[in-house]
Amino acid sequence: MSDRTYYIETYGCQMNDHDSEKMAAMLEGIGLKKVSSAEAADVVVINTCSIREKAEHKVYSSLGKLRALKKRNPGMVTVVAGCVAQQEQARLLKRTRHLDAVVGTHSISELPGLVERITETGDRIASVDFTPDVESLHFPAPRKGPSPVCSYVTIMQGCSNFCTYCVVPHTRGPEQSRDQEEIVREVEGLVERGVREITLLGQNVNAYGKDLSDGNSFARLLTGLDRIEGLTRIRFTTSHPRDLDDSLVQRMADLESVCEHIHLPLQSGSDRILAAMNRGYTLAQYLEKIARLRETVPHAAITADMIVGFPGETDQDFDETISALEQIRFDQIFSFKFSARPGTAARRLPEQIPEEVKAHRLATVHSVQEHITRQYHDRAEGTHAEILVEGIRERSGQPYGRTRSNKIVNLDSSDSVDVGDLVPVEITKGLKHSLLGKALDPAEQ
Ligand code: 5AD
Ligand code: SF4
Repeated sequence: MSDRTYYIETYGCQMNDHDSEKMAAMLEGIGLKKVSSAEAADVVVINTCSIREKAEHKVYSSLGKLRALKKRNPGMVTVVAGCVAQQEQARLLKRTRHLDAVVGTHSISELPGLVERITETGDRIASVDFTPDVESLHFPAPRKGPSPVCSYVTIMQGCSNFCTYCVVPHTRGPEQSRDQEEIVREVEGLVERGVREITLLGQNVNAYGKDLSDGNSFARLLTGLDRIEGLTRIRFTTSHPRDLDDSLVQRMADLESVCEHIHLPLQSGSDRILAAMNRGYTLAQYLEKIARLRETVPHAAITADMIVGFPGETDQDFDETISALEQIRFDQIFSFKFSARPGTAARRLPEQIPEEVKAHRLATVHSVQEHITRQYHDRAEGTHAEILVEGIRERSGQPYGRTRSNKIVNLDSSDSVDVGDLVPVEITKGLKHSLLGKALDPAEQ
């Protein structure tokens, strides 16, 4: 039994990365060993994303590739987990003969039991119950793979917002916060194991605690975590503009470990489109919030997600998006073409935008933002920053890490620093997606 192996392929967001870490730890708990390719594995899990159609296509293509492997090794256990699993449920088993199990977003903790059962009986199973998976939500965070000093910590699951384009409330269920004390204990455990930076995960972290009756809020959670000795950095994602309040902004300024970066998706610069998206704020309200943030936390980096080609988006609406980008000057954005998702309200809206128009608008957004990001990076040259060394690049031997404002810095390979060090650096060059830096001698600081 003990030489059985597993391989997990992960698509989508950090929440999925983190779920995959949990599934890996659970499979290791029943004696499986990790391998680096599906070919070499006895159990293959595809952890899927359905946020946009493109993500879902990738899943089907990698599922297709498993067919030949399963033919060669009929004892292999094949599993689809995550959002596509939740969305498609048992239909996936019907459609895909070489698939053994479908594990929904609320059934992760069933995985080891299902693997054992399938190995023994050859059953094909869909486990997609939508009742809260208490065990998985409380399953302690394993360390984030690539760096031993950074870890994700899920503080809440699901989302109760129902933005009209978004599949998440359908695939992940309503907001469900974890208990504050449990989160604090978990982070203390991670710090004891050498973690220096945590990223708190939730679809809408600003709503943390609203579903609990103990009066806890996200701002209070941050205060509790900031007290943990040895934890140097706290990050969090994603924030919803409607729920961003002064108490959080003030904590960002006051609490030493809370990093000066916020990911605050704007989605569109047009009030008409924001209303059709059911975002719950206008552009003016958004601008007011970030003005307050910049006033209170002067060096805060702000990043966002944007969607182009939402149904009914006119040239004028799109122009408003471009002027918002030019006015706000985000440090970085992630931009997407609207994708009609199953079960969402926007899928049924008239005036769907033609693909060529979406593609053209996306290219425009890219070029506008690329210019702004590049200016930030160029202007950083010669400035000083503190980075937490997360790892060493395999090929070049360069140590790398991120500034408090979440910018990736690759250091000089001659810099003698260790993973986990907090290093003061001078930024020597701004590139398109990252910065180059050099560790400062103590005398230069
Ligand atoms: N189409 C395009 N982009 C989407 N996003 C979520 N749903 C869709 C969709 N149907 C984007 C949003 C969100 C990010 C995670 O993905 O910008 O903030
Ligand atoms: Fe989706 Fe809106 Fe919830 Fe974000 S806040 S997960 S976009 S429904």
